[in-house]
Amino acid sequence: MNIDLHERWFLGDVEIPTRLVLAPMAGVSVQAFRRQGRRYGAGLVCSEMVSVAGIQHRNERTLGYLRVGADEHPLAIQIFGSDPAAMAEAARMVEAAGADVVDMNFGCPVKKVTKTGAGASLLDDQDHACRLVEAVATAVSLPVSLKMRRGVENGSRTCLAVGPRLVEAGAASLTLHPRSAKQMYTGTADHALTAELVSLVSVPVIASGDVTSRAKAQSVLATTGAAAVMVGRAAQGNPWVLREIMGADTEPSREEVVAELILFMRETVRELGAHRASGFLKKFYGWYLGRGRFPRPFKQELVQLATVHEAEARLLAAAPGARFVLERLLSEFPDPEDEILLDSLPISIYGGG
Ligand SMILES: Cc1cc2nc3c(=O)[nH]c(=O)nc-3n(C[C@H](O)[C@H](O)[C@H](O)COP(=O)(O)O)c2cc1C
Repeated sequence: MNIDLHERWFLGDVEIPTRLVLAPMAGVSVQAFRRQGRRYGAGLVCSEMVSVAGIQHRNERTLGYLRVGADEHPLAIQIFGSDPAAMAEAARMVEAAGADVVDMNFGCPVKKVTKTGAGASLLDDQDHACRLVEAVATAVSLPVSLKMRRGVENGSRTCLAVGPRLVEAGAASLTLHPRSAKQMYTGTADHALTAELVSLVSVPVIASGDVTSRAKAQSVLATTGAAAVMVGRAAQGNPWVLREIMGADTEPSREEVVAELILFMRETVRELGAHRASGFLKKFYGWYLGRGRFPRPFKQELVQLATVHEAEARLLAAAPGARFVLERLLSEFPDPEDEILLDSLPISIYGGG
């Protein structure tokens, strides 16, 4: 069966133009990543999880995650926390920031998050999880989605028990990553559970986990009945996998790889500032230049350079033709100033009162 990933679907009343979703990933899903994902075929992109406590305390770095670019829509911003009132307030901020969907994190397995009663630990307290969804769904007029694991313990089927309840509480879509929290990223995602969840709820389900190619995307969509597949790790430094999943069969040239990387670097510097971007980008050098695209020592060399500026010069020296690809990309790129800035958030919500 050949499934058309260019088919649109609806998350609440938000139209999603393709059946491919870019995963939220902490330390990865910056604006540059999301904008790139949209250009390469993702119909929906998502911010990394944003701390509700950080929003409450008006932490500057946290508020930076609420910056929305005009070319990102439709965009989900994901929040995590465990207090209904704080979640509701954060959701209102997300709405004011211009996101299309509020996503709630019920899947993070990291101790720092679960010990606060947030993330995957919510799967062990279904009543509270429902209260959180209800609080958020009541607070905003945006559709509310949530992303969860199969459960906390290995072999758990909690997602099947809690899923329909969360829908009843107001969730307009569920994303399932069918590994347990204990599993972290080991083993495989068991999409038989995704199929079961699809059969239990009337809202669209997004299938997350181990989708790394067009063949895998097709088989997950066909066997689960999910509305869309979500791609995470495979898209790190590799937007071309999104293009492949959407039906293209060309590998990028070295020039294309370098041009996309440089664009990503410039965007990230603009978003995070030169100092933060310099550390943040190091892992991306390996992701872009690996996969047999460039020799390993070249990546080592880039990582050791002191500034992003030097890294850009070194990349252009290695692939001079990338300059022309970059020029073309920049000419098609929207005005970076065309975004909602934090300053323009209503004062009553942003630091006001
Ligand atoms: C580095 C990293 C960070 C992640 N951060 C988040 C996050 O902030 N919120 C979330 O819901 N899932 C997060 N995830 C999980 C992914 O969204 C996704 O469900 C998981 O990686 C499985 O999909 P994949 O096999 O396509 O990577 C993260 C995963 C990785 C690898």
